[in-house]
Amino acid sequence: MTETMVRLDEVEKLYGAVRALWPTSLEIQKGEFVTLLGPSGSGKTTILNLISGSIGATCGAIWIGNRDVTKLPPNRRELGMVFQNYALMPHMTVFENIAFPLRVRKRSEADIRKRVDEVLEVVSLAGYGERKPKELSGGQQQRIAIARCLVYDPDLILMDEPLGALDKKLRDQLQLEIKRIHKTLGVTLLYVTHDQSEALVLSDRICLMNGGRIEQLGTPDDLYFRPRTIFAADFLGESNIIDASLEADGGSAKISTAGGLVVEGVPTDTKAASAKIMIRPESFTVDTGDGFARNGVQGVVEDTTLTGGVIDIRLRLKDGSLISVRQLTRRDFRSIQHGQQLSVSVKPSDVVILQ
Ligand SMILES: Nc1ncnc2c1ncn2[C@@H]1O[C@H](COP(=O)(O)OP(=O)(O)OP(=O)(O)O)[C@@H](O)[C@H]1O
Ligand SMILES: [Mg+2]
Repeated sequence: MTETMVRLDEVEKLYGAVRALWPTSLEIQKGEFVTLLGPSGSGKTTILNLISGSIGATCGAIWIGNRDVTKLPPNRRELGMVFQNYALMPHMTVFENIAFPLRVRKRSEADIRKRVDEVLEVVSLAGYGERKPKELSGGQQQRIAIARCLVYDPDLILMDEPLGALDKKLRDQLQLEIKRIHKTLGVTLLYVTHDQSEALVLSDRICLMNGGRIEQLGTPDDLYFRPRTIFAADFLGESNIIDASLEADGGSAKISTAGGLVVEGVPTDTKAASAKIMIRPESFTVDTGDGFARNGVQGVVEDTTLTGGVIDIRLRLKDGSLISVRQLTRRDFRSIQHGQQLSVSVKPSDVVILQ
């Protein structure tokens, strides 16, 4: 049985006339890794701050476990937080930095020593206890910040862009570390990022934010393969978004576009006569045979770009629009020339009809 760890009931946040968060409901299950993803100013930090208690809700209720914490001060909410700027105390050793939350909780000296050693092990920094923060790299300091928040075993950890200040290589490495920590400790994690690949790599579910509202909440698969809106389709990954006419036929539709793309049997229950559709560049297949595929389109090659393992082809259609096609590189694709005719096809199930 799943157990709810965090619940927001119609929580709203206003700063004067600025609505940072529209009335929002959200449930996070125990042990889940949920990422808040979205552009700057979309309300990600606001949600985190509301849960931690560093800001108060204008309306609505916030639950952690089976406690209504809406009116509780931050220090009574028993959760861990890690920020982008890992605010370690510079004059204290790594050991004392990590021990601090336990001293506040008046744990015994023996207890503290054992526990700090354990979490240093978890973040792969055993033996670093006697150093000062300035004697560590940025990535190591961030791991200490994570260790400090793990040390008192919170059930819930909130992280606000914890890897934002690090270079790409360190970020990738620490992503894996955070994922591993989440798996081994079974802790519930709510994680903020505006980096879509980070969200796809880490999350059980992604909560995509837009303008202070939840745009879509679902698994990485849901968001990538079944985005509901133009915003979602556009925000995650690359996409061709095209106006299409629809002819409904039972549980599916035939779609056609001004550029000449025709696809039959697209699964949908919509009855609309027109809609925007989305097709990922990699969902197209270049037809190397001579026959024109039934579900697809023909166009003129605008340009091709080889980026190692994949080749990107832009195809100009008869209405003048361009579509992007991405294929795994094959030697014979190198002969594709600007100006040549090319047909591509797509599986009906890879065409997504947007709201
Ligand atoms: N103290 C404040 N007073 C007034 N407006 C605020 C305050 N804090 C945040 N806001 C506004 O609330 C909205 C949401 O801000 P929030 O910090 O949640 O965004 P975010 O998604 O975390 O963005 P970023 O990726 O830039 O960190 C923004 O429009 C912001 O300007
Ligand atoms: Mg923020």
